[in-house]
Amino acid sequence: MPAPTASDRAARAVVVTGATRGIGRAVVEGLTARLPEVWVWLGARDAQRGEAVRGQLLAARPEAEGRLAVLPLDVADEDSVAAAASLLERAGGPPLWGIVNNAGVADGNLQAVLEVNVRGIDRVCRRLGRFLGPGGRVVNVSSAAGPNYVARCPPRWRRFFTDPALARPEFEALVTDCLRGGPEALRARGLPWPGAYGFSKALANALTAILAREHPEWRVAACTPGFVDTELGRRFLGGRSPAEAGMKTPAQGAEVILYLLTAPGIASGGYYGSDGRPSPLDRYREPGPPVWKEAAG
Ligand SMILES: NC(=O)c1ccc[n+]([C@@H]2O[C@H](COP(=O)([O-])OP(=O)(O)OC[C@H]3O[C@@H](n4cnc5c(N)ncnc54)[C@H](OP(=O)(O)O)[C@@H]3O)[C@@H](O)[C@H]2O)c1
Repeated sequence: MPAPTASDRAARAVVVTGATRGIGRAVVEGLTARLPEVWVWLGARDAQRGEAVRGQLLAARPEAEGRLAVLPLDVADEDSVAAAASLLERAGGPPLWGIVNNAGVADGNLQAVLEVNVRGIDRVCRRLGRFLGPGGRVVNVSSAAGPNYVARCPPRWRRFFTDPALARPEFEALVTDCLRGGPEALRARGLPWPGAYGFSKALANALTAILAREHPEWRVAACTPGFVDTELGRRFLGGRSPAEAGMKTPAQGAEVILYLLTAPGIASGGYYGSDGRPSPLDRYREPGPPVWKEAAG
């Protein structure tokens, strides 16, 4: 696996987790196509699959050879994230400028979903964040399922999920309790239990605000990519076809992530809609025209 080298001093590196398919893969494609100064680490929990995807992407864009490398990375596994950090250190490539926490699951029990969608973000930021320079970007790929979940919560929990000053210990207490106790722990606290996914994304949005406060030197944003035609997205079709449901392509879903990675003036700690505009944490907002199209005139 050719790792990036520091040959180009202007170069900057971006890590994309869960980039073997779907939106993560489209983010990698977008970065290699549009930003020739960016070196991309294609995160893959199965390194072989990652290499296969890298091969496919390079077949379509051979000029990206040398600035696209696979980063073996299972965000649910502390050792794997630690090994990824060691690899980044050894590779000595261009400075890390962005982390896209895209890896996500909708299937599995509460613990399995939280380990990827919530703890995975934290693990990656803790281990890989130390390579981010000042102004480094973190984009957490969340979902409108988060605000939809919070909308169903009783007032006390709505306040919890929307509190801009939510303390890390309170957040950790809830996550740890739910990891131990499963759905029963939510019910015992008066939290709704429609399934793990929306809860995990509400937590991912709250974690985004916490990370922004803990790291004022970074710009951290959460977003929804919209309803996107991927393996995960198709789980929510409810009998409709992707066209009937108005699903976007992965490339369209990747746009807001590329925007949040690159646009100036992104406020740290917020949650953004698929149109790139700030969105409420406790209710769904219908997206409008994408802000990047407006900016382009
Ligand atoms: N599609 C939508 O409509 C939609 C809407 C809102 C939010 N999102 C969010 O968008 C993100 C990407 O989802 P997608 O729709 O592109 O889904 P997808 O096609 O199912 O892709 C999910 C990616 O995450 C990876 N992944 C899963 N568990 C992982 C782990 N433990 N460590 C590292 N990678 C892991 C998968 O890798 P493997 O190939 O190894 O399984 C895959 O590359 C997710 O966070 C999802 O919640 C999607």
